[in-house]
Amino acid sequence: MKAHILFIVVLIAVALLVPLAIGLRGCDYYTTPEAERPFHPRYEVMKPSGVESHGYGIVGSLMIIGGVAMYASRKRLPFFRNAGPIRTYLSVHIFLCLLGPSLIVYHTTFKFGGLVAVSLWSMLAVVASGVIGRYLYVQIPKTIQGQEMTEGEMTKESDVLRQTLLATSGLAPADLEQMEALVHSRDGKRHAGILGVLLDGLTFDLHRRRQLRLFRQEFERSRISGQLLARLSHLALRRSVLRRRMEMLEQSRKLFHLWHVIHLPFTIVMFVILFIHVGVAVAFGYWWIW
Ligand code: HEM
Ligand code: HEM
Repeated sequence: MKAHILFIVVLIAVALLVPLAIGLRGCDYYTTPEAERPFHPRYEVMKPSGVESHGYGIVGSLMIIGGVAMYASRKRLPFFRNAGPIRTYLSVHIFLCLLGPSLIVYHTTFKFGGLVAVSLWSMLAVVASGVIGRYLYVQIPKTIQGQEMTEGEMTKESDVLRQTLLATSGLAPADLEQMEALVHSRDGKRHAGILGVLLDGLTFDLHRRRQLRLFRQEFERSRISGQLLARLSHLALRRSVLRRRMEMLEQSRKLFHLWHVIHLPFTIVMFVILFIHVGVAVAFGYWWIW
């Protein structure tokens, strides 16, 4: 678990620092008005077909292609079934498909013209929808391997958490139930409809800290303190999150299904135009360093 967290921290750091470094490096060029750019001392390397920006286009596109191919292969091809946990692949998909598009934006040098602009906007739409998809993805509880849990598995996990809470705290079952009901009653009013449920889920997630604090207060009231207090509050919060996910499971699945209907067509539009764009570039002799 610790190794996975460290891995994610490294990915986030690279995904933030690389675009920042490129932005700082080319800042002077990017802020020069388009009409004056041909007179800029770095114009020849910085224009979209220049060695530096062209390179960002190629590396960024390869990252996106790699990020999609790798995740789709792990998810869909039986051959890759035992090739590590799917959640790691999703993290790498997100990393490559965030860093890749930011390199592409530098490749365009912030000039969003021509047919290929459709590819660019589709790419940015896929990235934006990806962020929403990632949120919906975590709403559907998964096993450590990243496979969707069955309803039986979720109930079992919730029961295990309840038993651990009871055994560790020494509380009577009725007291624990009362405490959970009390904390839940403060978790805001429920809305109708599929988007209302999503809104409720978001509100719930944004208020997790408050829930943790409430559990803490309730355990303190039961004279529990020290390290045990922190452990119990986290366990209670975990159970509360799981129960919330179970409550909105059907709607989350529907929304996630709908989400694919948006994410995939934009991906296809992006790739089709990208291939035309690359074809045209190569036909006009833009071979980068070759
Ligand atoms: C999703 C990927 C990509 C997007 C969204 C994209 C987008 C763009 C945009 C918006 C421009 C500027 C057009 C203008 O001057 O108004 C451009 C220029 C260019 N792109 Fe890309 N690009 C991508 C990938 C690539 C790749 C992989 C190559 C490598 C072959 C490439 C080669 C070029 C070249 C050579 C130019 C300059 C064309 C010229 O000055 O006439 N692009 N690209
Ligand atoms: C240009 C950028 C991106 C492209 C082209 C892209 C493409 C795709 C494709 C084709 C899939 C479906 C894979 C399959 O079911 O076989 C997918 C899944 C997914 N992507 Fe992306 N993506 C991009 C960026 C992102 C970003 C930035 C995020 C999150 C911040 C993201 C999150 C997800 C999630 C959560 C899934 C669903 C996993 C599942 O249903 O198993 N994507 N992406």
